[in-house]
Amino acid sequence: MGQNTNGKQNLIIVSNRLPLSVKRSDGGFQSSLSSGGLVTSLSGLTKSTKFQWFGWPGIEVRDPGDREEVCKSLEAHNAIPVFLDSTLAHEHYNGFSNRILWPILHYQSGVTFDDTPWQAYRRVNELFADAIVDTAETGSLIWVHDYHLMLLPELLRHRLKEQGKACAIGFSLHTPFPAGDFWRNLPVRKHLIEGLLSSDLIGFHTDEYKQNFMDTCASLLGARTEIPNQIQYKNRLFIVGIDPQKFTDTLQKPEVQDRIRNLKERCKGVKIIVGVDRLDHIKGLTQKLKGFDTFLDDHPELQNKIVLIQVAVPSREDVKEYQELERELCTMAGKINGKHATPEGTPLLYMHRSVPFAELTALYSVADVCLLTSTRDGMNLVAFEYVACQQEGHGVLVLSEFAGAASFMTKGSIPFHPANTTEMSEAIFKAINLNASERKSKYEYLRDFVDHNTSAKWGQDFINKLSKRCK
Ligand code: UDP
Ligand code: G6P
Repeated sequence: MGQNTNGKQNLIIVSNRLPLSVKRSDGGFQSSLSSGGLVTSLSGLTKSTKFQWFGWPGIEVRDPGDREEVCKSLEAHNAIPVFLDSTLAHEHYNGFSNRILWPILHYQSGVTFDDTPWQAYRRVNELFADAIVDTAETGSLIWVHDYHLMLLPELLRHRLKEQGKACAIGFSLHTPFPAGDFWRNLPVRKHLIEGLLSSDLIGFHTDEYKQNFMDTCASLLGARTEIPNQIQYKNRLFIVGIDPQKFTDTLQKPEVQDRIRNLKERCKGVKIIVGVDRLDHIKGLTQKLKGFDTFLDDHPELQNKIVLIQVAVPSREDVKEYQELERELCTMAGKINGKHATPEGTPLLYMHRSVPFAELTALYSVADVCLLTSTRDGMNLVAFEYVACQQEGHGVLVLSEFAGAASFMTKGSIPFHPANTTEMSEAIFKAINLNASERKSKYEYLRDFVDHNTSAKWGQDFINKLSKRCK
């Protein structure tokens, strides 16, 4: 059996995005922590589990000497790069994954299918399979992540069989899986489903996504009883989470405490609302700014007494739709401040950049409210992170009913429909006026959920179930 030196089974994690993204700098290479929930959830697993992590390094590296350098720099993180040439990577990542598949998975209309990016998608999935198959040994557990690699389970299955290796293959989807009609928009939908069905175990974040997937399998591949019999049993619900301890530890650092004091001093007498989102359509950022504008119109008495600190993390900046969204948000932010700012201050602090982890923790900690407005969202780990940082303040989570997290956190939060600006404005008002005992009881409910659904538990549950299937 493929066992490592600890006597444990070899675990191979595969995702398009590695935990570190590599960039060229001063003739060499520099790597920085990647953004997004997938990296957060898997990084949370590193404390409890050892694994090798295969993924795209984020840049093209042709020269063999350079490749070696990149491999070495990633080795410390057990990360193994799958090198791709830039045109192929562009068509796979921007062309098919983010312009076609991502919008369909998130119920966005107006997507146009194109064969060139689809062929690149297929090719990249093959290259990943080639890279992994040699490392895998009989008994290895291979855990594939997310929509960039939906063909990989089937490709791996064939290649492993050719090499006489028996491995368990698991797949986790970090996005919603849409209801049948949306999935039907994709002419290659059957290939993708068949690609996934070579997995021994498929994990979804909510029951709704799992059910949609099952329904699609039934309608695409015939009656349920005709599907290879495991299908009905092998798709499971796995609640992804964070590592709350990491936030608790960071909050105790003296420099973070200083920063918290400093931010509180600067915002004395002002209620702080925080928003942290990748700059993506699915996060409902235009809806958020509209809702906040309505809130400010509805409550002139709160002038200079409220601020929204919105971090919009740059994302997928080579995709036209994301560039357009960035321009739109910039204009909207300017208009809101133009309309509501006074010499005493501006109600919106819009930051289009990543923030370091310590600063993020401090921001979560000082905010009275966290406002998340996703129009669709696989889970939304920011909701968890805010809760992890509010042990003292019992801050209030105002959460869109369309975030996956809403399936579990509605009871402890203030839910609303992101397209209804009046409802959003009322939800914000309610949040800032909740009394201490209401805040406490909502908070305790959420804290319990976050503490009991950590990334380590999510990973361990998945690995255990996958391992059982292997046996
Ligand atoms: N995040 C980040 N860089 C930042 C700010 C936040 O990487 O500058 C992290 C954030 O802490 C969270 C993740 O990005 O862990 C976002 O995860 P979420 O599930 O909310 O959304 P996703 O980006 O995966 O759609
Ligand atoms: C979401 C996806 C992840 C992705 C992340 C960041 O969480 O589910 O697969 O890694 O967004 O997006 P990016 O395109 O930068 O990898």
